[in-house]
Amino acid sequence: AISAFFSTSSSQSAIKNVMVIGSGLMGAGIAQVAAATNHQVTMVDQTNAILTKSMRSIEKSLDRVAKKKFKDDTEGGNKFVADTLARITITTEPNTAIADTDLLIEAIVENMRTKHKLFTDLDNAAPSHTIFASNTSSLPIREIASVTKRKDKFGGLHFFNPVPMMKLVEVVRTPETTDDTFDALFQFSKELGKVPVSCKDTPGFVVNRLLVPYIMEAVRMLERGDASARDIDTAMKLGAGYPMGPIELADYVGLDTTKFIIDGWHEKYPDVPLFEPSEILNDLVARNKLGRKTGEGFYKYD
Ligand code: NAI
Repeated sequence: AISAFFSTSSSQSAIKNVMVIGSGLMGAGIAQVAAATNHQVTMVDQTNAILTKSMRSIEKSLDRVAKKKFKDDTEGGNKFVADTLARITITTEPNTAIADTDLLIEAIVENMRTKHKLFTDLDNAAPSHTIFASNTSSLPIREIASVTKRKDKFGGLHFFNPVPMMKLVEVVRTPETTDDTFDALFQFSKELGKVPVSCKDTPGFVVNRLLVPYIMEAVRMLERGDASARDIDTAMKLGAGYPMGPIELADYVGLDTTKFIIDGWHEKYPDVPLFEPSEILNDLVARNKLGRKTGEGFYKYD
């Protein structure tokens, strides 16, 4: 597995130069993994200050990876970190840098209008062969692609947080995505050392479509007073073998994120009972109790 992860020779795909737009939690992780697997990466964000901060977090993460993978070989580890960092270029001007890009991965804010603006500009600036992909969690890929003239070269690449650790990539195809585009995205995911699964452009793809309603059912159970948060979590950990219970998981994901996803689906599919909003969840979010990141959600953290 280690040799597949680091080898230079296994790279058979057409994708060499990758542009990652948005260098936040997800974008920085994607840029790191792409560079670590010998792709040339251009990382884009709104300001150089943000980009510098993202580079530092990538360096820290690479140090951790190197310690694990290279153990006592300090020199090898240092070389891996330096070589990987050297493959990442940063810029705030995607429209000029896109000229050499084989694959563009968008990981900016989850807002359709902002994504449309970005893709309209890039579609005009990019060479015709460039494949576009979005890492969106909750917006339809087809709707994001609708503003471009390359709907055949557009798909979803949905990574999981933290990107360097999580093995899965959901490769999403719309009715317009061609086999060539899909194959290139699938192959690229493998090159990153990930395990890709194929999914249609449906709400939540596979993981979130199952996970979010499950979390919401647990919250509704709590709301009805059927069981306590602790007992629900203990039950699912010890009875279903899950590493985390659903209430803990909601706090981990962030209650604002959970609410954002369920509200979006509820608006689109008002008749699906699994997508009903929850009063407790809405109340916690209104009081800025967003889970782990704010120190309190369903549970308190110190
Ligand atoms: P984040 O807030 O950590 O990062 C977003 C970055 O995009 C920020 O650095 C921001 O400055 C930058 N940005 C915003 N507008 C931009 C623009 N027009 N041009 C260039 N850069 C811009 O967000 P995060 O969590 O990384 O999410 C990004 C995307 O990934 C969203 O679409 C989200 O749905 C998706 N996603 C998030 C996951 C998560 O666990 N947080 C998991 C899988 C997907």
